[in-house]
Amino acid sequence: MSDETNAAERRRWNDERWIAVWPKRERFTNAVTPRLLDALALTPGERVLDVGCGGGIASIEAGRRVLPEGSVAGADLSIPLVELARQRAREASAGNLSFHVVDMQNEKVPGAPFDVAMSQFGVMFFDEPVTAFVNIARHLREDGRIGFACWQAAERNPWFFALALAPFLQPMPPPAEGKSPTGPFALADPERTAGILGEAGFADIRRTAIEFTVDLPEDVIVDDEQLAFMGVADSDMPAARRAMDEHMAQFRLSPEVSRFPLALQIFEARRA
Ligand SMILES: C[S@@+](CC[C@H](N)C(=O)[O-])C[C@H]1O[C@@H](n2cnc3c(N)ncnc32)[C@H](O)[C@@H]1O
Repeated sequence: MSDETNAAERRRWNDERWIAVWPKRERFTNAVTPRLLDALALTPGERVLDVGCGGGIASIEAGRRVLPEGSVAGADLSIPLVELARQRAREASAGNLSFHVVDMQNEKVPGAPFDVAMSQFGVMFFDEPVTAFVNIARHLREDGRIGFACWQAAERNPWFFALALAPFLQPMPPPAEGKSPTGPFALADPERTAGILGEAGFADIRRTAIEFTVDLPEDVIVDDEQLAFMGVADSDMPAARRAMDEHMAQFRLSPEVSRFPLALQIFEARRA
């Protein structure tokens, strides 16, 4: 794998501390999977590429939908998450899945051309998004389709607590010249995202906004391990915890369960 592209995201998604919290954190978006897969309308026999597949939960569900002859290749730049996905596929006895450690911005996944490229929140971390979507398009057959879920703006997703934590964190350095900012809200602007897809050679671009709530324990979103990983100093930990507690109070239904509003969007397009 090349060391130059997406260096910060590669570090983050391979950091053992982040990987330790991830299985808890991914519960937050499990309810998105059926919505994304319904939008994609996968049919038996299709060959699917799951971009930024993480621990493979959506890949495994997609694999079920394309049985008996279809298959899913999951691609991710996180070595430990690809290992988790492989382990889950083995446990599910899913024989039509493969997982690959790949930077989807500029590397190849074996098995192309695919009928469909899908992604559940795995396409917002490219520091050259047009380059990355061109690369994804090259993995598709002519007329193949793409469908992905990404977040709407941070203001519409108040569960994203980084603003409340800002006084305790070092500001993010600006992207290097010619690179784009990466992160969960990098594709939030619908016009910009549609522009990226168009520039990358996709047509018939459609966007569906989706909002719903999930009831989950608060620590699915944040816990002490995560605060430390994000860079809160030991000496700031009590104050950071208090700030978090105040911020998260708005979601609490009971000490055990909180209700979080999710605002996401699904983009669909066709390789022109
Ligand atoms: C928010 S997680 C989503 C994971 C999974 N799709 C899910 O819904 O649970 C984003 C994933 O994108 C992966 N990722 C980030 N940049 C990538 C890149 N350039 N190429 C491949 N995967 C990438 C991360 O390693 C991470 O697993």
